[in-house]
Amino acid sequence: MKVISRRSVGALLATALGTFLVAVGLTQTPVAAQGAADQKMEQAFKNIKSLNGQSAELLLPTMVYFEAALGVGCPYCHDNDAAKRELDTKPTKQVARRMIEMVNAVNKNTFGGAPRVTCFTCHSGRPEPIGMPNVIGQALPPALGEDYYDNLPAAPAVPTGMSAGQLLDKYIAAVGGEAAVQKAPSLMAAGTVTQRRIGRPFPAQQVEISSKAPGMELIVTKAGQADNLVAYGPAALWAKAGNGAARNLRKAEGDATRLEDAFNLPAQIKQLLMEPKVERPEIVLGRELYVVSGRTPNLPRVKLYFEKESGMLRRLTYYTESSFGQYPTQIDYTDVRDVSGRKVPFTWVISQTRNREFTWAMQNVRAAAVEDAKFARPAAAAASQ
Ligand code: HEC
Ligand code: HEC
Repeated sequence: MKVISRRSVGALLATALGTFLVAVGLTQTPVAAQGAADQKMEQAFKNIKSLNGQSAELLLPTMVYFEAALGVGCPYCHDNDAAKRELDTKPTKQVARRMIEMVNAVNKNTFGGAPRVTCFTCHSGRPEPIGMPNVIGQALPPALGEDYYDNLPAAPAVPTGMSAGQLLDKYIAAVGGEAAVQKAPSLMAAGTVTQRRIGRPFPAQQVEISSKAPGMELIVTKAGQADNLVAYGPAALWAKAGNGAARNLRKAEGDATRLEDAFNLPAQIKQLLMEPKVERPEIVLGRELYVVSGRTPNLPRVKLYFEKESGMLRRLTYYTESSFGQYPTQIDYTDVRDVSGRKVPFTWVISQTRNREFTWAMQNVRAAAVEDAKFARPAAAAASQ
């Protein structure tokens, strides 16, 4: 919101009332008195550039519709002097003209002239449309209008005096530091993954995770007859579903697999996260957390949420690029326990699009020797390529 009205609700109401008088009564010829043929907008009003050709009767309902569709008042686009609606003093009025032209063009070119796309289609009662698809647990900004936003407490400031690198170091130290990883570089875990979707139950599946620092992982999910496998390591980045052939992961999928590796994340986050930056703290599940953002070679945006006191990672969100915008995947870590001096999460929840939520719950995580060969892509499938 670039234009902020500082008026009280009462003043806004008074303005709106005054405007009605100005628009339909005082400065213009009343349209009702025009007889059979309505005046056109450009005949009845002073500075019409986009609504030309339409009946002047529609001007005020159109302005009220703009208010409803964007959740704003008249002065969001118009000069604060309610008697001078013709002035182009605010950039939002120019933006609104471009929007009118866009909506007209879309309906003409794509919907055969039927008014299928409206301001509300994108704006949903908010001055700035929500461009990003939602995943479970993300609160949408409410569509309550500019008065509501103007009276919100100020967002917490970006913390000064601490760098992204320091927050990452604090996290790495909190989970035991490099020394703990060197003492127990490889882990074996067994547990379940359970998908939840509103209104649709799924059975838990058994999973086995083999992990080796700083960046090797094999996940075996028991899925009926044949297992589903996903693995990455210095020489391998592959997945195999059931009896199908192994395939290479796409580049973005590979980065996502690394970020989703709950055990090796501390050992490789500093290498993975490019251009790390401290952001405004955010409230997650009722607590204010430090936020570090950045990107990976193949994912446009990653956000890490750290506990203020302990430095522990509570949430990681990464965004995947598509031809039409980005969508998020969110990982929440809970139930962190000690395994041979390393603090590792036993439970984490991955929220994805379509409101799918996958709970990974480990019953058992232990230090154990794991051969590098375990992470290699299955030879038969590799030969068949
Ligand atoms: C989202 C932006 C927006 C909001 C909100 C808005 N308007 Fe407008 N208004 C415009 C634009 C754009 C035009 C010029 C349209 C054109 O060029 O065809 C306009 C034109 C007008 C005009 C014609 C002025 C003239 O003589 O040229 C009046 C009167 C008017 N608006 C009144 C209102 C009132 C009253 C409200 C609140 C109920 C309101 N507007 C809310 C964008 C807005
Ligand atoms: C296809 C989606 C879409 C439709 C339909 C649409 N808008 Fe928008 N509008 C946007 C987007 C996206 C932005 C933000 C642009 C940006 O941030 O640069 C925006 C921004 C605006 C802004 C500027 C808000 C600000 O605070 O900077 C105004 C005013 C606006 N739209 C008015 C309208 C009006 C009036 C209509 C209907 C005639 C309309 N829009 C229809 C997508 C749309």
